[in-house]
Amino acid sequence: MTETAHHNQANDPHTHLIGPRVIAIDGPAGAGKSSVSKALASSIDFIRLDTGALYRAIGLGALRASVAPSDGDELSSLLGSLEVRLEGTDIILNGQREIESLRSPEVSRAASDFATLPSVRAKLLELQREIGLSSPCVVDGRDIGTVVFPDAPLKIYLTASADARAERRLAELSGKGVIADFESTRAEIIARDEQDMSREIAPLKRASDAHLVDATELTLDEVVEACERLARAVFNL
Ligand code: CDP
Repeated sequence: MTETAHHNQANDPHTHLIGPRVIAIDGPAGAGKSSVSKALASSIDFIRLDTGALYRAIGLGALRASVAPSDGDELSSLLGSLEVRLEGTDIILNGQREIESLRSPEVSRAASDFATLPSVRAKLLELQREIGLSSPCVVDGRDIGTVVFPDAPLKIYLTASADARAERRLAELSGKGVIADFESTRAEIIARDEQDMSREIAPLKRASDAHLVDATELTLDEVVEACERLARAVFNL
């Protein structure tokens, strides 16, 4: 298991918890953040916030309205009128529940394109903080440990090799009946990571105090166990 505890909070019995009861999980596309966050939240009885789904909702809303990231005025009015909220873990976009529609490759790309824009990030920032602070919460995304909850007591940076991530994404897509090939899926996640890591605002990067978990050689259960051990130690669960 490649897990580097970069600061000793989890092992320190005298840890004084400060900050929100938030576990921040960041990492590149397809590393398994969604599955790990879901399983971790249910095992420690935290709620879960999938912030990628919020960005996907904006991407989907913009695709449906045929608005591009460069459409200044049209984009502002779209952002003003798009209503994104959560019911449990379901995304409600303009009153309609969206589940499968959020996970297509087109929506992934649009989410990443719109996520480069300050106006989009600003629209979602308060919503994320409000939900994350409402109950103990596992929050996954790209900038959770760096921007949204920089004082989260536990931060995890979950990654895996590009090949392993492409395999997982392919399996997720084929489970939903979406036909995709390995090379284009791999190219898509690499392009999206590059854009997410190089954007000016809130780029994907590992927070200096985040625990690194490399899931390349680990099963989902092993990753969840590693995260759960950290969570139980940090939050005295
Ligand atoms: O599931 P996957 O890792 O492929 O993506 P996701 O977590 O659903 O996120 C979709 C896109 O939303 C990412 O590629 C990012 O561009 C953007 N995003 C972001 O900018 N900040 C976040 N906190 C979460 C997602």
